[in-house]
Amino acid sequence: MDLYIDTANLDEIKEAAALGILDGVTTNPSLIAKEKGVTYHARLKQICEVVSGPVSGEVISTDYAGMMKEAAELIKIAPNIVVKLPTTIDGLKACKALSDQGTKTNMTLVFQPLQALMVAKAGAFLVSPFIGRLDDVAEDGMDLIHRMRQIYDNYGFRTKILAASIRHNKHLVDCALAGSDVATMPLSVIKTALNHPLTDSGLKKFVEDYKKAFPG
Ligand code: E4P
Repeated sequence: MDLYIDTANLDEIKEAAALGILDGVTTNPSLIAKEKGVTYHARLKQICEVVSGPVSGEVISTDYAGMMKEAAELIKIAPNIVVKLPTTIDGLKACKALSDQGTKTNMTLVFQPLQALMVAKAGAFLVSPFIGRLDDVAEDGMDLIHRMRQIYDNYGFRTKILAASIRHNKHLVDCALAGSDVATMPLSVIKTALNHPLTDSGLKKFVEDYKKAFPG
């Protein structure tokens, strides 16, 4: 499973990249808006200078022509830019047109399985089901991942399932078990993925026992 970080903060991206297990980055307009003193495209360029894997940059337009115009500008930023599009009728048309021209897309704001079926047929490279936001409204985000996996496996769709809106480690474990191709998460989840108190206490004991047996 590929691991992406979901942020536009350069320090966080560098910290995650230094672990050696970071495969890509997802951003969205809200995340880039939090970053002060840098333009939208400039921040995407900076991110692409740190990470060589896929970096999702989202369009702001909601109409087909606007999305295509923005996509043309986004792909000039770096070869690893993936154009992130909303899963709407216009987004679907843009996905198909961009996929046909060889541009990678990430279809975002997916909340039900038919959206996933449609974007796979349009050739999406990535599809982003938002599992945390479904849980927020008392639905089951993980159930969507399972259903999407089943549909994609039934028909051999190659669109990668990118589990998004991950809030905690349980989400990450469940995504791995469900066969999600990619998971994107905040730095806090990446950093706590190695945590277990028995690892800490076990290591403490190993060091103490060694020091007692081999003083000096
Ligand atoms: C993914 O591409 C989105 O940027 C993100 O995962 C949204 O997460 P949120 O629901 O925590 O805002």
